[in-house]
Amino acid sequence: MTTVQTTPQYDADIYTDAALREPYEHYRALRDLGPAVYLRAHDAWAVARYDDVKHVLATPEVFRSAEGIALNEPANAAILGCTLASDGERHAHLRRIVAHRLTPRALRPMRQVVTDAADALVADLVARGSFDAVGDLARALPLSIVPDFIGWPEEGREHLLRWAGANFDSFGPLNARAEAALPQCGEMAAYGAALVRDGNVLPGSLGASVLEARDRGEVTDEQCMMLMLDYLAPSLDTTISAVGSAIWLFGTHPEQWERLRAEPDLVANAVQEVVRLESPIRGFGRLAAEDTEIGGVAVPAGARVLVLYAAANRDERHFADPDTFDVARPDALEQLGFGFGEHGCAGQGLAKLEIQALLTALLRTVTRFELGEPERALNNLIRAFASVPVTVHTD
Ligand code: HEM
Repeated sequence: MTTVQTTPQYDADIYTDAALREPYEHYRALRDLGPAVYLRAHDAWAVARYDDVKHVLATPEVFRSAEGIALNEPANAAILGCTLASDGERHAHLRRIVAHRLTPRALRPMRQVVTDAADALVADLVARGSFDAVGDLARALPLSIVPDFIGWPEEGREHLLRWAGANFDSFGPLNARAEAALPQCGEMAAYGAALVRDGNVLPGSLGASVLEARDRGEVTDEQCMMLMLDYLAPSLDTTISAVGSAIWLFGTHPEQWERLRAEPDLVANAVQEVVRLESPIRGFGRLAAEDTEIGGVAVPAGARVLVLYAAANRDERHFADPDTFDVARPDALEQLGFGFGEHGCAGQGLAKLEIQALLTALLRTVTRFELGEPERALNNLIRAFASVPVTVHTD
């Protein structure tokens, strides 16, 4: 029989500006306190250890997404029934409509398009010598690839980054960032609904196949709009975050760049290591459907559970020297930054393709990154830089 421990508690707000800038000591404290820790400031149970995060993600019948994955109810109400916030048959159905377009096989024709775009972008930036690794590099590739892939029309693209960022801010607790974000999420939803109503998506795109599914009676208009946003909203900031962090990590760890230059076959592993160490998504929520326990800590029915991928990825109970950046880390692939289980990231094939293409293009000429003063972007869910000034050396 499992012994039920007293619930450990943590008082700090882990969404203040300071905590978003420096989250890792909070995550360590949460891991050390126990398998599930009650966060007084957010009325939620945080799960920060690797094994427990995996258990929660692998048990969707108990730790449900259908009642929302945000830490506040207005955001949960707004996303009810989308891919991220559904379970069971409905979730499987929504994933079937779209996810086949993102399998490695389906992405094969994209490989050349992404590689060519990455090569051209990197050649241009290397010729300039100095640039912003976020504004000029990390944002440029996903913005040139993903909206076309999803089929978003040209008009309205100027709002995409603002809307996508707001989408992630809205999933935090109802703090000032989430409150400011919610109306912007409404704008994005209204725009998506108009696209579906007018059939205004690019031919041959993911959006076009969603509309075809609607015409075959497989999804409703509302599901159609949600599917468009399901794939657009998480596809930009996440990849942008990973590329910005990669350049910063290689700038601060030049020996790791040298190692990768010597063994370019490690590039896929290096991408996993960047996502492990600087997980772009801090954590998503679940709702406990019944009285349950996590690692022996009782969690009541109706509890909000905060699954901290970013904390699990630095758990010393699982990874050796978890705070060390090591492109050859043998178990980097076990990182949970893309989630795990039924809700595991549906777009990770595309994200990895983009990040690897950029790093591969840089590996060809850049010997060293000289960093300027980086600036953090503050978002409830996304850990990222607003800018990373860099000068690249090719000697
Ligand atoms: C480095 C880049 C990325 C990271 C770190 C990332 C991370 C994640 C994580 C942690 C989840 C799990 C959600 C959960 O547990 O509830 C997720 C789900 C998802 N991601 Fe990503 N993502 C990335 C890129 C992308 C891209 C490029 C797309 C679209 C093209 C995308 C589409 C999705 C979708 C649709 C889901 C929902 C899956 C479901 O609920 O079944 N992601 N992602």
